Amino acid sequence: MSRVKALYKLLEHYRKEQIIICILIVIDILLTSSVPFLIKDLVNYITSGDNWTSILKLGLLILFITICNAIIQIIKNYRWHLLRFRSINYLRLKMFYHALRKPMSFFDNNNVGGIMAKVLDDVVIVAQHAAIGLPMLFANLFQLIIVISFLFILELKLAVIIFITMPIYYIIFHYLNSRIRETSKLERVNFAKVMKDVQEKLLGVRTIKIFKKEKYMVDKFSKVLDNYLQYVRKTVFLNSCGSGLTIVIMLTLPVIILIYGGFLVYKKEISLGTLIAFYTYLSFLYEPIRNLSDYNLGLQTTLGMCERVLNFLQDDKIEKEGKVKLKEFNSLEFKNVSFQYENGKSVLSNLNFRIDKGDRLAIVGPSGSGKSTILNLIMKLYSPDKGKILVNGIDIREISSDSLYALITLLEQNHFLFEGTIKENITFGEEVDFQRIRKAAMLSKILPLIQSYENGFDHLISDSNLSGGEKQRLCLARSLLKDAQLVLLDEATSSVDPAIEKEIVDNLDKNLEGKTLVAVSHRPQILSICNKVIHLSNGQIIGCYTLKNEKDYEKVYGIVSRTLDQ
Ligand SMILES: Nc1ncnc2c1ncn2[C@@H]1O[C@H](COP(=O)(O)OP(=O)(O)O)[C@@H](O)[C@H]1O
Ligand SMILES: [Mg+2]
Repeated sequence: MSRVKALYKLLEHYRKEQIIICILIVIDILLTSSVPFLIKDLVNYITSGDNWTSILKLGLLILFITICNAIIQIIKNYRWHLLRFRSINYLRLKMFYHALRKPMSFFDNNNVGGIMAKVLDDVVIVAQHAAIGLPMLFANLFQLIIVISFLFILELKLAVIIFITMPIYYIIFHYLNSRIRETSKLERVNFAKVMKDVQEKLLGVRTIKIFKKEKYMVDKFSKVLDNYLQYVRKTVFLNSCGSGLTIVIMLTLPVIILIYGGFLVYKKEISLGTLIAFYTYLSFLYEPIRNLSDYNLGLQTTLGMCERVLNFLQDDKIEKEGKVKLKEFNSLEFKNVSFQYENGKSVLSNLNFRIDKGDRLAIVGPSGSGKSTILNLIMKLYSPDKGKILVNGIDIREISSDSLYALITLLEQNHFLFEGTIKENITFGEEVDFQRIRKAAMLSKILPLIQSYENGFDHLISDSNLSGGEKQRLCLARSLLKDAQLVLLDEATSSVDPAIEKEIVDNLDKNLEGKTLVAVSHRPQILSICNKVIHLSNGQIIGCYTLKNEKDYEKVYGIVSRTLDQ
């Protein structure tokens, strides 16, 4: 029961709208079901040869009610469907917000495809049920109760037939619906495989072209599609049976009622009007019975998905926020820090170092030695397993992420660009003076490329239409634009050629006046602008140097470059 409660609580936000829809449903059902009752009187007036004005009056009343009913239905349907889509988007946004707040370790253990399925697909069914499940249950029950009451008021003898036959229909529908649900679940699982297959092959399109394996891949995909068709065939078959059965039920019961009712009319036990009204009411019964027989099954499927959605939303791994707000950066210290990723070997062991405001630290070491991991820890993307990281002497866990990030800028190793203009990609949504944007582009040596585009900074880019070096320089411009006190660079120049690298390093040197720098590199060039060096190997510090003059620099350059991959 608490699971059902949790499901319906998800969209508490829309409770008022749900109530309005329920009120509209009540009006709609009352109006709809009053019509056959009035038609009964109309037919009786006609057959008993009543006067023309009462026939006209009643006819006009029926017409008026029908028009009102249509208007109410339009309003109800509009609000009903709008609520469905609003709820889906509401939940999607909530999921996306939570996805972005997850700790990085979550993304190490879950693939993006799975997360996207949760964010975009699971929520559709959950949101629909949470939003309109209750109004729908209410509408169907209410309609059933009202129609059955009218049937009993009209004629007890005929109503008894319905009471005997309806449970049989309910059971048949129930069985059929459960089979349809089973097969369509399998169908969905197999469709996911089709999607994955297309995605995988399109991502590898370069390799497929180079090896000229288009036909081979088409054949493989055709097999996946054939497999999928098997499941579709079952679903289609059951759906056809379902609609066939509905037709049989919808046609047989009225005929039985007509035969038996005709007999009662013949014996003058009921009027023709009653029989016609009864006949019309029957058609109002099928839909609620069908929907109600499916309600519980739908609820069970939804609850399964809802649990996944709730787990996602209530993930207790979301980091607690620190309270201390930093105003400026003074020092950074690693004290006996050890760390390993959830699924891996030890990456950093017992790391100790300290830098103060104005220092420029180079962390060098071969790839895989743990350099980027150090930056991940400074950015609070992961927490150390042992030891402490202190900023201005305060444990980083107690510092609010917002105030920490306001002081730091990081150029990452993987260069994330999104679809938008160059300007948007550099500013990342911040309002910044254009001259500053231009300067950041100039420092990172990307300005000539931007100027070569017809629209300059307004040129549209996406992740795929730039070279590795160009992406890197654009991301460097983004990092430099942020006027941060602590600049972290992860392989800032690894994808550009040595001549440009030297210019960028020189530009950085000029631009970092008064700032603190931590630069990670597997190439030794960055040493030229640093005053401290940590040499890392297999997650341990194997050398710590201070660079005061040209001689120190050459000595350390010599030691370090021997162990690095060039
Ligand atoms: N997200 C991750 N999950 C598991 N292992 C990781 C992850 N990121 C890096 N590693 C592993 O940690 C080690 C150090 O990686 P990293 O800090 O990126 O090295 P570097 O930046 O020096 O090349 C490597 O062995 C790498 O495979
Ligand atoms: Mg790295």
